[in-house]
Parts: sequence; structure tokens; C-alpha cells
Amino acid sequence: MTEVTLHEPLDMHLHLRDGEMLRTVAPLSARYFSGALIMPNLVPPVTDAEGLRAYRRRILEAIGEERFEPYMTLFFKEEYDLDFLKPFASEITAVKLYPAGITTNSEGGVSGFEIERLRPALEAMSELGIPLCIHGETGGFVLDREREFVPIYEELAVAFPDLKIVMEHITDAESVAALDRHPNLYATITLHHLLITLDEVAGGMLQPHLFCKPIAKRPEDREALLKVALEAHPKVMFGSDSAPHPRHAKEAPGCAAGVFTAPIALPALAELFARHGKLENLQHFVSTNARRIYEIEPPAKKVRLVDRPMKVPEKYGEVVPMMAGEQIGWSVAEIIQE
Ligand code: DOR
Ligand code: ZN
Repeated sequence: MTEVTLHEPLDMHLHLRDGEMLRTVAPLSARYFSGALIMPNLVPPVTDAEGLRAYRRRILEAIGEERFEPYMTLFFKEEYDLDFLKPFASEITAVKLYPAGITTNSEGGVSGFEIERLRPALEAMSELGIPLCIHGETGGFVLDREREFVPIYEELAVAFPDLKIVMEHITDAESVAALDRHPNLYATITLHHLLITLDEVAGGMLQPHLFCKPIAKRPEDREALLKVALEAHPKVMFGSDSAPHPRHAKEAPGCAAGVFTAPIALPALAELFARHGKLENLQHFVSTNARRIYEIEPPAKKVRLVDRPMKVPEKYGEVVPMMAGEQIGWSVAEIIQE
């Protein structure tokens, strides 16, 4: 039997939602991860200290006794400045920027990337040491959106050299290439974008549970993502972008974007890394890199995974996970918190 023990696994891009959905999904992440970067795209989004603190409290309530740190984010607004951010900077792990209307609950996002418009907010974040996470897609043709956004990432990286910029859930070989051109560019990569291409989403019968933004791309893009994930490139981190929607919102005309992977992520990653003979790099991909990049000290938790198969449940509450009903070759054997 092969096994791996992960220390303080982290999910650096997670949607926990609110209310009933929060109570369903938060315990599933809190069980297997030491912490996660919590996305702010609620309705309305998290845009101030009061909203951020209240949401953090609701998350802690939902996870009960589990030892898990919700690393909180604020939804980017051009109006942010030093006076606004400074009083609660220590509670903000990152600010998340969405282009307006690009994905679920992003209507209040940014509608132009002129540097001067963004300068007050981004200079304040640089000064306070708050990283900027970006959903990098233009309004162009769906398969080109991320590629078209790369020059914007680069322009921002050059204009704000002291700002850490995280290219969220990258899906395109061009984004991977940009990583090494700027010292302050980083990236998260999801599980699903390491496993699927557009073929799995729409090549046969349409698979709504694999539909997400950014859409999965070409085989050569997936290869580029796999290469940097498997080698645990020091500037990439695991971020599941696990984005639960109730089944009726997915299996519908006007299918909501989002793949729910939180409860299967670690076994599926272990299987993937083992298949490629790279298990020794998984610790860096799911924890060490993120700790260094975000300068965080997550609560102690060890997760031992073994190559014993598990069957993925058909549903968690109202949410259908990726690989529902299928088998994963690895499973969690033990969780050690001391
Ligand atoms: O597929 C997605 N779902 N992509 C996003 O960027 C947002 C997310 C969500 O919140 O459902
Ligand atoms: Zn997301």
C-alpha cells in the first residue's frame, strides 16, 4: 500500500456561500483542510470590515469543532484606499478582483483596467501587504478570454511591483508562461482543470457538473497546468475553486458555472500525483507554497491518504460533486490534529 501524509493542507480558492449551503459545504472543507481562502462573491458581496467579520463568524459557526482557518477576502472596489483598508488590514488575507459580470455574483466588479483608476486601491494594498487575487478573463470569445487577459496581468505586475498578484484558477498555457516573467505573479490551479478539457464538458453529452468559469480548455493547456502543478512550481498553489450550486441550478437551461470538488480534492490529487510518480511534490502544491506566498501559519492538521479506493457520493445535500458515483483510487485514512 502506498501512502502520503499531508501537513496543513490548504485550499487557496474556495466558495463557501452562505446560509443553508454554507452549513452543508463548510464542514466538508474544514474536515480535510487546515484552512482555505474564502471567496467574497456573496449576494451582496463582502466589501467592508463588518461584512467580513460577520461572514467569518458564520463560517466558524458552520464548521463547529473542526480546527480550520477561514482566510478572508474582500471583494475589490475601486473606491478602496489606505484610510479604508488600514483599520482592518490584518483581517484581510487578500482582495479578490472580478471583471464586472464575468461569473457568478460578479456584477459589482471592475469594468475597466486603466491603471490610474485602480492606482489608489492597489497602492494601498501594496503598502499594507495585501495580495490581489484576480479572476482573469476578458469579455472576448469564451476560449480566448483568459489568454486575452494575460497582458492585463502583466501590466498590473509591472505597475505595482510590490503587490503580490495571484492569477486565479488558471486554465491556459499562456498564463502559465506569464508566471516566470514577473516576480510578483503567482497562480492557483484547480483540481478539475488538471483532470478535464473542454471535451469532457461538451464533447459528448453536455456535462453541467463540469461547467465552470473559466471553461476547461485544450489538451495542451491542461498539459501546461499539469507540468507546473506536478513539479510544484514555487509560484503555484492548489485552489479548488470548489463552487457549489444546488442540483436544480446545474441541471437546468442556464446552467450555473461551478464545479463542486472540496470533499474529493485531496484523494483525487493524491491519485493524480501518484499516477505521475510525483507524490513527493504534493505537499508543496497543497500547502508549503501557499504558506510561503501568503505568509500564513495554518492550524496543525495532518491528513494521511492511502491508495485504497473510495466511492464518491452521488450528492452532498443538494449538491452533486465532481465524479459523483465514480471511484477514486485513493482515500483519506486518517486525520491527525494535535
Ligand atoms: O465556475 C465558477 N463558479 N467560476 C467562478 O469564477 C465563480 C464560481 C461561483 O461562484 O459559482
Ligand atoms: Zn472562484
